[in-house]
Amino acid sequence: MDAADLESDLVEILFTEEQIQTRLDELAREIEADYEGLDILVVGILRGAVMVMADLSRALSRHVEMDWMAISSYGSGTKSSGVVRILKDLDTDISGRHVIIVDEIIDTGLTLSWLTSNLASRTPASVEICTLLRKPDAQQMPVEVKYVGWDIPDEFVVGYGLDYKERYRNLRDIGTLAPHVYS
Ligand code: PRP
Repeated sequence: MDAADLESDLVEILFTEEQIQTRLDELAREIEADYEGLDILVVGILRGAVMVMADLSRALSRHVEMDWMAISSYGSGTKSSGVVRILKDLDTDISGRHVIIVDEIIDTGLTLSWLTSNLASRTPASVEICTLLRKPDAQQMPVEVKYVGWDIPDEFVVGYGLDYKERYRNLRDIGTLAPHVYS
């Protein structure tokens, strides 16, 4: 789905499909340099990270193993509470492995903060985070993030995996949702 198909639902396009691919290519080059000679396991967080996982993994010019987790945050529906439940755990034993968690956005930081500690307790060789977007102004919990696509303002963004009520995930670009859609 293109932004043109959404008429007045978006206030603006923040990042085009092309800009996203370019930034993911840059992150892939950084990852290749940092993990030279090492096996990597990339862990995508369902459901929003599907697009980033698909494009980042294909931007890597090397073998990479992929696994997935599904987690649920108890909260108000639009904000996470930090109380996290695993709905689908990894199929992989990560002990001794180099793990990169891949997500599309860090908002409050509560989810990734919890997840990083959870995975760290499984004795991996390393755990790092790669997120396409991060909202510094919304952060409630410090999270050490090694790879960030862009820092963005604390606005409601959709597209490229990001949803509002399960819609807009298949938008190719990332845009700011118009207030009339959610208010
Ligand atoms: C999003 C995103 C992160 C989390 C970040 O997932 O993928 O996992 O929210 O929020 P936080 O920093 O405030 O904890 P979401 O719960 O929207 O699920 P989804 O990926 O299925 O859309």
